[in-house]
Amino acid sequence: MAITPMILPGPLARSWIKRDHAQLSPSYARAYPLVIDHGRGSEVWDTDGNRFIDMNAGIAVTATGHSHPLVVQAIKDQAERFIHMSGTDFYFDKLVLLGERLNDLRPLEEEIYTFFTNSGAEAVEVAIKLARHFTGRQHFIGFLGGFHGRTMGALSFTSSKAIYRKNFAPSMPGVIHIPFCNPYRPILANPEDKDYGDVVLDYLEEVIFAQMVSPGEVAGVLVEPIQGEGGYVIPTPNFFPRLRELCSKHEIMLIADEVQSGMGRTGKWWAVENFGIEPDIITSAKGIASGMPLGAVMARKSVMTWRPGQQGSTFGGNPLSCAAALATIDAIVNERMLENAIEVGDYAMDVLKGMQERHPTIGDVRGKGLMIGVEFVLDKQKKTIAHDHAENIVTKAFEKGALFLSCGKSSIRLSPALNISKQLMDEALSILEDAVAEAEAEL
Ligand SMILES: Cc1ncc(COP(=O)(O)O)c(C=O)c1O
Repeated sequence: MAITPMILPGPLARSWIKRDHAQLSPSYARAYPLVIDHGRGSEVWDTDGNRFIDMNAGIAVTATGHSHPLVVQAIKDQAERFIHMSGTDFYFDKLVLLGERLNDLRPLEEEIYTFFTNSGAEAVEVAIKLARHFTGRQHFIGFLGGFHGRTMGALSFTSSKAIYRKNFAPSMPGVIHIPFCNPYRPILANPEDKDYGDVVLDYLEEVIFAQMVSPGEVAGVLVEPIQGEGGYVIPTPNFFPRLRELCSKHEIMLIADEVQSGMGRTGKWWAVENFGIEPDIITSAKGIASGMPLGAVMARKSVMTWRPGQQGSTFGGNPLSCAAALATIDAIVNERMLENAIEVGDYAMDVLKGMQERHPTIGDVRGKGLMIGVEFVLDKQKKTIAHDHAENIVTKAFEKGALFLSCGKSSIRLSPALNISKQLMDEALSILEDAVAEAEAEL
């Protein structure tokens, strides 16, 4: 039965949006007119009292759901003690405790050191600097479709949409982009029908390293284990093992940008664990503190060898954010959220695969845990990009009470809180199917 859409935005939301547009930078790109009033778990309500199921979690940020009681309490308790005491200049307990917890969760054999930042982009900046510092080299390899943030260093790698770079050149020199291992939309020809990961890495070795930059001059390879903003793209099995081998052979830092894919999103603490390899440097942010601003750069102790003063931050590792991160990790462990991400994620994948059979415009369904992408096409055989169609589906789903976001050229991503229930997932998926059917009828 078709779900009746709401008339959105309501009067209060409309008034806030008008005032917002009068004050705030026009660079903010809002997907739809949602003005949130409050949220609990995987549900949010707007200023006019309309309820939505949140399938984005603030773009993979509210890992434990909106306002998880443990996280709220931890922030309140810390705020009563002290709010700021720059970790760059002074010591405090929560920084140490969080460093210890992250060391326990590391996807590396060797122990790590952690540097705390305020955001994902800043974590990427720090990782770039660390790779240059450790190797004494200048060049980097990045991937087309990657998103690493908007600060100048991170932006030099970001290549998911041209608008992110428009009018901001020149960016940091020394970054060479190669195609990501996207098996659904391969850029490189694959006449021998190899694992596409091998095709991409043959290109890196035989073209880039042979003709552009010798591997001995490359400081790092910056890669998202699963591309996020670029379309929730999962590489093929050979990609990461061979990339690891290449980086080890040439002593290049393999930097896993886990800002979106980490902190349990795929049902493992770090998405690289799905591919059986160890990176050298890891960046984290988004879900790490359930919505409080925090990023982290983790590296083997033998790699993070810089001296006092070489890297610092006034706000990075803020006490409230560290308290929220400690509570986030406790909640994920105690409430079995990694297990839930796999159970509910697998369930959603099954439902979406069924939908794919019923709908002519669902070209691909891919995912690990609660990091799921659905790619829309106008023609399944030709895989014609269906950008406007995907956006139309997102808008219709919003009007029917579920918050989805697009990504890549014509995909919709599912990145809800790690503790979303099967019932809410079911409700959101039936809204999605309803929206798909309506949008297909309009094509
Ligand atoms: C993989 C990845 N890296 C870096 C960033 C940048 O993070 P932030 O927006 O916190 O600067 C993002 C944000 O979407 C991301 O997905």
